[in-house]
Amino acid sequence: MSRLIVVSNRVSLPDEHGSSPPGGLAVALNAALRRKGGLWMGWSGKVQAEEQPAALMEKEVGGITYALTDLSQKDLEDYYYGFTNQVLWPIFHNRADLAEYSEARESAYYRVNGLFADQLEHVLRTDDVIWVHDYHLIPLAEKLQQRGHKNRIGFFLHTPWPPADILFTLPNYNTLLRGLSCYDLVGFHTENDRNNFAECLRRQELGDLHGDDCRAYGKEFRCGVFPISIDTAAFASLAGRGDDLQESFCRLAGFDVAIGVDRLDYSKGIDQRIVAFNRFLRSNKHRMRKTVLLQITPKSRDKIPAYQAMQKDVAELVGRVDGELGSVGWVPVHYINQSLGQPELASLYRRARVGLVTPFRDGMNLVAKEYVAAQDPRDPGVLVLSRFAGAASELGEAILVNPYDGEDMARAIETALDMRRDERIRRWTPMMERLRAHDVYRWCDDFLSSLDPPRGSMPSLE
Ligand code: UDP
Ligand code: G6P
Repeated sequence: MSRLIVVSNRVSLPDEHGSSPPGGLAVALNAALRRKGGLWMGWSGKVQAEEQPAALMEKEVGGITYALTDLSQKDLEDYYYGFTNQVLWPIFHNRADLAEYSEARESAYYRVNGLFADQLEHVLRTDDVIWVHDYHLIPLAEKLQQRGHKNRIGFFLHTPWPPADILFTLPNYNTLLRGLSCYDLVGFHTENDRNNFAECLRRQELGDLHGDDCRAYGKEFRCGVFPISIDTAAFASLAGRGDDLQESFCRLAGFDVAIGVDRLDYSKGIDQRIVAFNRFLRSNKHRMRKTVLLQITPKSRDKIPAYQAMQKDVAELVGRVDGELGSVGWVPVHYINQSLGQPELASLYRRARVGLVTPFRDGMNLVAKEYVAAQDPRDPGVLVLSRFAGAASELGEAILVNPYDGEDMARAIETALDMRRDERIRRWTPMMERLRAHDVYRWCDDFLSSLDPPRGSMPSLE
């Protein structure tokens, strides 16, 4: 039986204050690996003190063995803040206008992938199965193969894959495509992402995709659709407990609550959502002083100018709406610029009549699934969901909205708050059934069994 090694830039290890990083990748892999065990290699979140990176630091926390590497200050700037989050992230989220490419950043990206490969070599055994995650590490398979390793290796992308015309704005995009061809299996969240990827290969006559089978750069590999999910049963039971929240609930007592939970990121449509909420209140005067928006938005990637600008813009916008509409005893928008833990989030989702998940573009969006899983089956709230989140392809009974259309979102909030209980139950039930059948464990098993060689020896997750 082979061992499973998961590799991602971000791991779910709590920081020195005990808070776990918000973000779908860390939350999902933490749930999957906590149950199954396994080795998880990634960035420690720290900058290395020495010139040379130290050997991997191994740590056992909550049944997961972490093998962590530090990054140098330069790699942090050029690889993490630079190429991955100021070039690939905006391009993968259809914001080529925000991409700040430079050759130095690109070479840091390939260099850090080489460092990850060097570090991994210290722990790698010949029969290990490797599962690489997200845009930070696309070249890792090629780097390992250049070092002579022939392990079975899969890749899963947690973001969208962009349309060809957008990918082609990236200089040397073909090196990235070639990197993907070095995996045995490449996984996307949705059919749309996989189609975009196939279109990129076809348009450049680099390769083709037939069903799941892909040929490119003289390699044959498989491309599948594996929508990520949550630990549905655990989330529902956390939400049902509803404890530890006396203080938060006091402040919300008597109000109809709409909730938004997003890392502070321009892909999430937070400003436009607050504007739509403001519009909703102004055109539904009877809802004034009775409705609040609870917007929970932990800081993210805060050395990047676009994120710093957002930090300021959202705070100012909240101040304006609260100042113009609020009164003694009613603050229309409650803005929390910190990360909350999963138990508190689960209880707040359940307390909220409306879940507002309105990104411009999102790979999946786990918050949408968490909101559904947290509802009281006898009296569920309503999910208002962007058509451009991967989750929309599985949660079609939500009120689907266009996040670029403020009137549409304002109307959706109104419809959600007016919706009768039987209609809310009618919409919620099939979504919850789907989430129960397709939870994060199923996602993990589906991917790993597709990565498995045809002779059918599943890797052990010990
Ligand atoms: N999250 C959290 N605390 C917060 C805000 C978010 O733990 O204060 C979690 C949230 O529960 C979800 C994840 O972060 O599991 C966000 O994942 P999603 O797919 O919605 O978006 P991403 O941040 O990955 O773009
Ligand atoms: C998204 C990405 C993840 C990333 C997370 C948080 O979910 O797909 O790879 O870990 O955002 O971002 P951060 O930059 O803090 O890791």
